Parts: sequence; C-alpha cells; structure tokens
Amino acid sequence: MSEREAPGAEHVPVMLDRVVELLAPALQEPGSIAVDATLGLGGHSEALLRRCPQSHVIGLDRDTQAIEAATRRLDPFGERFTAVHAVYDELGAVLADRGIDQVQGILFDLGVSSLQLDESDRGFSYAQDASLDMRMDQQSSGPTAADVLNTYPAADLTRVLRDYGEERYASRIASAIVRERAREPFRTSGRLVELIRDSIPAPARRTGGNPAKRTFQALRIEVNGELEALRSALPAAIDALAVGGRIVFLAYHSLEDRMVKRTLAAGAASTAPPGLPVELPEHRPVLKLLTRGEAPTPDEVAANPRAGSARLRAAERARSTEPRSADTRRQTESPRTTEKTRPSGASPPPDAPRDDRTHGEE
Ligand SMILES: C[S@@+](CC[C@H](N)C(=O)[O-])C[C@H]1O[C@@H](n2cnc3c(N)ncnc32)[C@H](O)[C@@H]1O
Repeated sequence: MSEREAPGAEHVPVMLDRVVELLAPALQEPGSIAVDATLGLGGHSEALLRRCPQSHVIGLDRDTQAIEAATRRLDPFGERFTAVHAVYDELGAVLADRGIDQVQGILFDLGVSSLQLDESDRGFSYAQDASLDMRMDQQSSGPTAADVLNTYPAADLTRVLRDYGEERYASRIASAIVRERAREPFRTSGRLVELIRDSIPAPARRTGGNPAKRTFQALRIEVNGELEALRSALPAAIDALAVGGRIVFLAYHSLEDRMVKRTLAAGAASTAPPGLPVELPEHRPVLKLLTRGEAPTPDEVAANPRAGSARLRAAERARSTEPRSADTRRQTESPRTTEKTRPSGASPPPDAPRDDRTHGEE
C-alpha cells in the first residue's frame, strides 16, 4: 500500500451493516468494550467506533502490517482504540493484562485480509509469482508455505490439501509436489500453480475458477494453524463475554463455520440431564442465538466477490457461569503480545516475548 493511500480506503468490510447492527445494542453503555479479534484494516472497528460513541475497541491481529495500517486509520479515535499484536487465542490473557474481566462485544472476521492478498510478496495469492511465505505473522519463526511443501510427507500433504482445501485431486497434487521437490525445492508460487494445473484432469481445469485456489487456501490454513487457534479461542471468547454481551463470527471456510456453529449451538442448549423435572439455573443455556448462518446478499457479493463464501453467526450471552477474575486468567494463560496504543488508565503491557508459534485458515 502506498503511503499516500488512506489505509483501508479501498477495502470493503464484509456484511458491515449487519455486523454493526448485531453488536451495537451491547455497546451503548459508557465504558463498554468491544474486542475485534481480527482487526485487519480496521474497517469493522471503525464502523463500531462511529456507531457506538461510548465504546472502546481493542483490536487484535497477528499481522504487524495490519496492526500498523489499522492504527493509522483509527488514529482519529484516540484513546477509544487500542491495537494489540497477538494471536486471537491469547484473548483471555490480553484482557487480563489490562485488568479487564468482561467485554460487551466480540467480533471474529476470520481468514485472510485484503491487505495480505493484495501484497504480492506475502505469497498468499496464486495470481502473482511470489515467494511462498503465507505466514500472517511475518515476525514468527514458524514454517512458511515453502517449508510445508518441501518437508511434509506425501500423506500429510494429501491430508492438508483434502481437509483444508477440499481438493478432490489432493493425492495426485501431493505426489507431484514430492516428485518435483526432489528435483528442486519449491520457492515461488508460479511453479506451484503450474504443477497444480498439470496435475488435475483437463476437464477439471475448465470449471470452478483457478485450480490453485484450493491448494493455496489449504497451505495458508496449515501454515498459520488457523483451525487450532480458533478451536482454543472460542471458549475463551465466550468466557470473556458479559451477560447481555454479543459475539459475531464471519467464517469463509466450512470447517471454521462448522466449529463456530457447533460451539454456539452447544452454548445455546440446556445441559439439564434428561428426565429432570425442573431445569436448574446452572443448566440453563449460556448463550442465546441471534442468527442461524446468514449469507451476504447477492448485491454485496456482486460488489465484493471476496464476501461470496461468508457465513455470519451471532449469539448473546444469556447468563454468567463461574466468575473468572482477571487475576485467575493471568495466571493460567501466558501472554505473548505487543501493544501499539493503550487506553488511559489501563495497566501497561508486560515485558512479553513475541509470539513464535506457527499457526494456520479461509
Ligand atoms: C478478514 S481479515 C479482517 C478484516 C477486518 N474485519 C476489516 O474490516 O478490515 C482477517 C484478519 O485476521 C487476522 N488473523 C487471522 N487469524 C488470526 C489469529 N489467529 N489471530 C489474530 N489475527 C488473526 C489476519 O491477519 C487478518 O488481518
């Protein structure tokens, strides 16, 4: 992105009005806090800050370029916005470090950002020949997409392409990768795109867009450990939600959407043992569902094709469970975060080491 461009100006946040409509009722009280767990270019955060003038937004992202772009964009909101460089499964520790027990809104807009897709040197896009990196956190010492391609056994490559990319020809592509890397290790995306095209039957090349799309998605999920991060972030996020607080998810991949759907459904179900004549308070649902998997309108998809696979789910916290103090959470979760700006009155961040884990997603 050029310095002269307003950060985020060209980026359209997915289902923006609906996301804000769902979160805003919980963010009207003075001092209410929203966590944008996937800050990106800060489009959703900006709309929340505008629509909920009493609220403070804490934006998390594992990508330092996103943190920098969103921090510049949201500078006009001053101390109402705090950016934290963190993986979202550190949410509990991020809040505990600031002495925050509960928040009133949480947003997860999962997946890759426009910034990441558009910056050719990040290696996320199959449309440009670039170094096969795909780490969302470029400061992490974790494996790149090239490392995965050059070191994984064929069976693991097949699993990754099949499970995360829903690639029908996973095993053919994996065998071709193993054969080709023995000749010369993979470094750039162009050679991989060519290999994928040559590995699948000719008729399949003519349908469903670029055949490399599924493999690139699968590699990104694996490199960034995105499903693992989401799996551990889900209970922590629900735990952090105040009664009446709302949580919204935008998922772009069926495995992520299923994980979100199941977690919300479990929270919205009674845990009373069958046959119990009266439902005890501790068996009552913790969540109330606000939606059942909404898709963007055809108009939005036409204007913003990247919204095409989005599924929105939302829930409201219906009752509290065991109270968990910030102190308890600080003891049980180790923070690996870096803060860009800090709200007045909040405690300073600890001297935490950087996140070095490898994580993966669409
Ligand atoms: C779809 S974009 C968010 C776009 C944002 N809602 C906006 O309006 O600009 C997803 C962002 O989440 C970040 N991200 C993905 N997985 C993450 C994780 N496990 N922890 C923290 N950030 C993550 C990505 O780096 C990316 O910037």
